[in-house]
Amino acid sequence: MASIGKDILKASKLLKSGNIVAIPTETVYGLAGNALRDDIVVKIFKAKNRPAFDPLICHISSLEKMAQYVLDIPSEVETLASAFWPGPLTVLLPKKPLIPSLTTSGLDEVAFRIPNHQLTLELLSTLDFPLAAPSANPFGYISPTTAKHVQDQLRDQVPYILDGGDCEVGIESTIIGFVNGQPTVYRLGGKRIEEIEALIGPVKVHLNQSSNPTAPGMLKSHYAPKKPVLIGNIPELIKEHSDQHIGVISYIDHFPGVDPARQMALSQNRDLNEAARNLFSALRKLDDLPVDIILTEHFPDEGLGKAINDRLTRASAH
Ligand code: TXA
Ligand code: MG
Repeated sequence: MASIGKDILKASKLLKSGNIVAIPTETVYGLAGNALRDDIVVKIFKAKNRPAFDPLICHISSLEKMAQYVLDIPSEVETLASAFWPGPLTVLLPKKPLIPSLTTSGLDEVAFRIPNHQLTLELLSTLDFPLAAPSANPFGYISPTTAKHVQDQLRDQVPYILDGGDCEVGIESTIIGFVNGQPTVYRLGGKRIEEIEALIGPVKVHLNQSSNPTAPGMLKSHYAPKKPVLIGNIPELIKEHSDQHIGVISYIDHFPGVDPARQMALSQNRDLNEAARNLFSALRKLDDLPVDIILTEHFPDEGLGKAINDRLTRASAH
């Protein structure tokens, strides 16, 4: 069983000697290893049971360090980085050959971000390589937002989990690329589109919905609990499924006719940031309770509500 602790030195030694380690970030926990070494990147794919066509995000502690690994940094990226890094935004940039093609699943671009978590920033500052880190969950399952979530699922797959507490954002980073100079968002996430557009103007949103996409974090069925998820008008869904054991994930309200212990209202303060922070824990809790089906609703389509709706839609596509 993986051990859990706050020992940065231990994590650093393990990583330098070619092991993988689970690390906290503000978005979700990552399963990290030296992004420059094929043999270590392979360990990450294996531990997660992740298909080789799904590229990894590289984590680094400064823009200057990142410049060693990419061919070009467009001015928009400099603008976004100075405003939002460290933070929940990932950029796609043309890679130098130093980044193995295994890390990018054969793509010419590499994904980079500076995560906003004190422990992990300290850890990164002890390393002379970037950390490739996908979310620390088995492929296709819900991303972990606590060290315990990682331990429950990866067990013997990882020797050490660096414990940084509960993730503050709770949903993965927003991913943006610049194909032919056109800023394009490929994954809705913890950085709101509205904030990005305020700095660099309108962005295209291109969320891949196919089952064999080029940016596979966007697989149509992803982030999925084991139980079926249905999205709609919750009171009507409760009526339609009255013969089943129901779990509910709502934004604000609780509903009559369902055991209150099986209802997760994500933010009674109507705060979409709080709702995002609670989303993945709530899905896990209902997955572990004796319910047959998870009923949920569309969240307001603004700010992090967009990313919440995206994750729920993918969870329901199972
Ligand atoms: O918040 C996050 O981004 C977390 C934490 C740990 O940083 N990481 C994360 O990684 O969510 P992961 O592996 O679950 O999602 C990575 C996704 C891929 O599935 C893919 O969609 C996109 O990032 N990606 C990575 N490299 C890419 C590339 N070169 N081109 C296009 N998409 C890429
Ligand atoms: Mg993931």
